Amino acid sequence: MSRTDAERRGELRDQVVRLYRANRRQGHAEWRGADYDYTCPSAETYPFQWFWDSCFHAIVLSRLDPPRAEAEIATLLLAQRDDGFIPHMVRWADDPRDSDPDAPYRIAGEQPRLSSSMQPPILAEAVAAVAEHGRGAAFLREVLPAVRRYYDWCLRERDGDGDGLITIFDPHESGMDQTPAYDALLGIEGDDPAAFEAAWRRIGQSNEALGQDPARIVERDVFVVADVAVNVLYAENQLVMSRLLSVSGDHDAAGALEERGRRTVASLFDRCWSNGDQDFHALAGQAQHMLPAGTLAGLLPILLEDLPADRADRIARRLEDPADYGTAFPAPSVSVANPAYRAAPAGGTVLWRGPTWINTNWYIARGLRRHGRDDLADRIAASSLALIERSGFREHYDARTSQGYGARDFAWSALALEMARD
Ligand code: GLC
Repeated sequence: MSRTDAERRGELRDQVVRLYRANRRQGHAEWRGADYDYTCPSAETYPFQWFWDSCFHAIVLSRLDPPRAEAEIATLLLAQRDDGFIPHMVRWADDPRDSDPDAPYRIAGEQPRLSSSMQPPILAEAVAAVAEHGRGAAFLREVLPAVRRYYDWCLRERDGDGDGLITIFDPHESGMDQTPAYDALLGIEGDDPAAFEAAWRRIGQSNEALGQDPARIVERDVFVVADVAVNVLYAENQLVMSRLLSVSGDHDAAGALEERGRRTVASLFDRCWSNGDQDFHALAGQAQHMLPAGTLAGLLPILLEDLPADRADRIARRLEDPADYGTAFPAPSVSVANPAYRAAPAGGTVLWRGPTWINTNWYIARGLRRHGRDDLADRIAASSLALIERSGFREHYDARTSQGYGARDFAWSALALEMARD
């Protein structure tokens, strides 16, 4: 690394430290009888604790402040239900925005402070990072039983047919709320924010009416999707979990998790891949019909070590093609060849329909390295750093111009620091 690069990294690190200081939320939650300590995604826009955001925050904190990284995980686990489920959002403290019907977040749940939705199950990766840079096996001993209950919940409640793929029951369970992958299923054309609101309300009300019961939700089949991104992350995290269990000496459980992870990988490769358009597709409903592809979810299988070389090559080529995902500031959340691609978020609020996100870049860069494409991974890491230098820690960025959009001081964009290290 030349001196200039080292200096740029040092500046980024200082900015991340300041950002994480400003977004830290600590206090006592009477309703839980416990102290909390988490990082909010954005003080202005997302004041609460979100599941996959917190996992990313713990990964960033693992090298900056290991005790605080542990607290981030411990606070997430405080919200765990007895059956293992962890909500996608937790309102630890009261906030004046709670009563704002137009607040830029949604929460539906049987309990006003906890949502009943999940988010991409990346907890094992976060726990692995925190253990690696902190107290290692001692930390694992403390948290692994709860983390295992969480992955058992995923299997029991979301993989009813045992095919290895978990299903989501609401678009925002994917973490990629308005991705065009679901447009056809939702009956949405264009990107009018009100159309998404209406579709989400319909699904939310249906799930509520069914008592959030997975079997009944699957049977009613309003929105039951085996999402590609969610399942790539589920596969990877089961394999990480297997390694953690093995480190902690629980070899039987480690073997079981490895087998579960391999089943997820095999189903993704067999069932979600189309030879026709050479892309990965989400599967909808009991009939498991393929939904349209052409979104970034189809690039994420690069993360999986067992991805066949020809498919890995195709993903790399798509990332290099300016008419596909190879924009000036990759990787756009939708291929520019997809008619649904938009450079900027419609109404300022419609997400995951074109702009580049730093969390998905982090996954793609790591995946490229696993498949021997350090050159391309370096480019994505450099471009992620450039996005932050030009536009700050924003929620997402114009993939062609680098203009920032959405929430400001957005904490998971600090993953660019992780990428600068790899
Ligand atoms: C948006 C994103 C979601 C994220 C949340 C909080 O809803 O789509 O992935 O968890 O904001 O940052």
